[in-house]
Amino acid sequence: MTSRDVRLAQRLSAVSVSPTLAVMMEAKALKEKGVDVIDFGPGEPDFDTPENIKRAAVDALRDNRTHYTDTGGILDLRRAIAARYRDRDGAAWGPDEVITGCGGKNVLFLVAMSLFEPGDRVAIYAPYWVSFPEQVKLCGAHPVVVEARESDGFIARARDLEAHRDLKAIIVNSPCNPSGAVIPADEIERLAALAERTGAWLISDETYDTFHYGPGIFASFASHSTRLRDRLVLVNSLSKTYAMTGWRVGYALGPRPLIEALRKVQSHDATHTSSISQAAAVEALSGPQDSVAAMREEYRKRRDDLVPALNRVRGIVCALPPGSFYVFPNVKEAMAQLRCATSVDFARRLMSEIGVATVPGEAFGAPGFVRMSYALAPDRIRAGVDRLARLLGARNA
Ligand SMILES: Cc1ncc(COP(=O)(O)O)c(C=O)c1O
Repeated sequence: MTSRDVRLAQRLSAVSVSPTLAVMMEAKALKEKGVDVIDFGPGEPDFDTPENIKRAAVDALRDNRTHYTDTGGILDLRRAIAARYRDRDGAAWGPDEVITGCGGKNVLFLVAMSLFEPGDRVAIYAPYWVSFPEQVKLCGAHPVVVEARESDGFIARARDLEAHRDLKAIIVNSPCNPSGAVIPADEIERLAALAERTGAWLISDETYDTFHYGPGIFASFASHSTRLRDRLVLVNSLSKTYAMTGWRVGYALGPRPLIEALRKVQSHDATHTSSISQAAAVEALSGPQDSVAAMREEYRKRRDDLVPALNRVRGIVCALPPGSFYVFPNVKEAMAQLRCATSVDFARRLMSEIGVATVPGEAFGAPGFVRMSYALAPDRIRAGVDRLARLLGARNA
């Protein structure tokens, strides 16, 4: 049977498979053939889950906490999440305004399913995380893609939404995957004011909120939780902050009627995320936080080594991103050198000729760039940049 013989639902016709996963699969296939691939593709920390979190999971298993839980997640976990935002941002969400699910991606999908209808227009800033537009499309709604400019540090600006009427929602992601941009506090204020004025929902994905490099750089929409009470949905995940990608724990905070709608969808979908993962997540949020700071410090060092090294390669121009664990260099000149018409071609050439895996900018709505994760060992990062320099030459050489 071929895929042509299967009549799939029409809604899938506009949607593509996650291109970042596609690159991971390609790199994996080459590695399995014995090729030494330096993989700048990963969208996850290269650290292991901290021991205290693993122990909490073992305890939960031993105590037979292996049954169904509340659809929205156990109360202790929802309380721990609400407490995080109360303590950090003075936000007043209670446990009934919190839902947990199988990762941030799943929770964002529950939000999309609960809010978006065919014909709705949803603003997304490019470069964007790959799943934002696809989730919007799966609901029959239209992504309205707005450019966050390279010359402006890829910051999502409220003024660029002024021309767009009748937006159902605005999705923002700070720190941003893939650009590493962080929306400054005054722009958060402007975006909040715009949502308030236009009645659009503001969906803030803060998955990388612990990965920012410098004091006072990051601001959360949680600080507007009272003002935007009826329209703010804050989504986050334990995946990156606690190196827990495989555990599948994400969450959303928002107005109670919306959270109830998300629960309704989840009750007919995954039911809830694993009871063991939930117990581990309570420990992650309530236990010692030193692993978070240690991971951040390590990523800051790697970023500070990687960016100048990339800028020494001919044809690559890389800004220093204030957040996340990605860099998003402009490779337009390097593409011209290799006579590549697209960054997809460019990424393919890097993979096949020097065994360097990157994710082409097309995946994020930004051709001419590639995403490179620095969640890999420093010696691998250096070796990868050396390979790039051998292929492309040194700047001004
Ligand atoms: C911006 C952004 N949001 C959400 C997610 C979802 O992560 P998870 O589903 O593992 O929580 C990711 C993962 O890469 C991401 O980069």
